[in-house]
Amino acid sequence: MIPTLALNDGNRIPAIGLGTWPMNEEAPGAVRTALELGYRLIDTAAKYENEEAVGQGIVESGVPREQIVVTTKLRGADQGYESTLRAFETSRRKLGLEYIDLYLIHWPLPRVDKYVDSWRAMVKLREDGVVRSIGVSNFTAAHLDRIIAETDVAPAVNQIELHPYFTQAEQRAADTERTVLTESWSPLARNAQLLSEPAVEQIAARHEVENSQVVLRWHIQLGVVPIPKSASPDRQSSNLDVFGFELSDSEMRQISALDRGRHRLDPDTHEEF
Ligand SMILES: NC(=O)c1ccc[n+]([C@@H]2O[C@H](COP(=O)([O-])OP(=O)(O)OC[C@H]3O[C@@H](n4cnc5c(N)ncnc54)[C@H](OP(=O)(O)O)[C@@H]3O)[C@@H](O)[C@H]2O)c1
Repeated sequence: MIPTLALNDGNRIPAIGLGTWPMNEEAPGAVRTALELGYRLIDTAAKYENEEAVGQGIVESGVPREQIVVTTKLRGADQGYESTLRAFETSRRKLGLEYIDLYLIHWPLPRVDKYVDSWRAMVKLREDGVVRSIGVSNFTAAHLDRIIAETDVAPAVNQIELHPYFTQAEQRAADTERTVLTESWSPLARNAQLLSEPAVEQIAARHEVENSQVVLRWHIQLGVVPIPKSASPDRQSSNLDVFGFELSDSEMRQISALDRGRHRLDPDTHEEF
């Protein structure tokens, strides 16, 4: 059983999940094997154009629906009050689900300036009972403050780029101050370079675990929820197996010291629709 963390709305979320970008034809099989292995949190997005395939994997796994936390996201092109409500219906239909567990605004797109209206629609979807928890992705403290000030509703989750090369200490603190749980996208930094860092290798050898497991364990001990993507059952299994060892404070600091302070995409300027 995967441990779970409490959200600010009373729901709970598994401590680790499966990312599904950029899966396409392999998505049904990958989601099915992940659920069979014990994953209970699946992350997709309208933008990934794989919601149908993810939904198929969920059905094929045979895992009871109520045991799975399914996340999808509102794409930029659909921001705005009415268009968010419509986009949600499309995602729900493609996933083949009655309700979505966690619905996120994918990017704030400050220049477009519709994220407050989109957030009001998310609140309505939660009130209507078709979404269990609502959240955001790639929001800065200023974006969070604006939606909270305008609606009095704090997101349950903020999903941000977070890995040892970009440790996001300030944003994590900002999320926590506002009762928002942080999720990590690109938790393995999407590349092999991080996994062959001498510090990571040495710590892995000491604990007799994989280098990738050290990085994922670092996320767990930070109290954030990593969603590593893997289409390989072996790597899915290894990524999930991070609850049987513990990093010391000094090992945590050594990994955090890999920070380069540079994000891949800036939430204040990045635009994708
Ligand atoms: N909200 C956002 O704006 C946003 C942005 C980007 C991503 N995301 C979400 O976050 C998820 C994860 O991020 P990501 O896919 O960018 O990066 P990631 O999970 O850090 O890295 C994925 C890459 O690492 C490989 N990998 C996985 N486990 C491994 C292991 N144990 N050892 C070695 N290699 C391993 C995968 O290949 P194999 O499949 O071959 O194992 C894949 O190439 C995405 O799938 C998506 O759901 C969200």
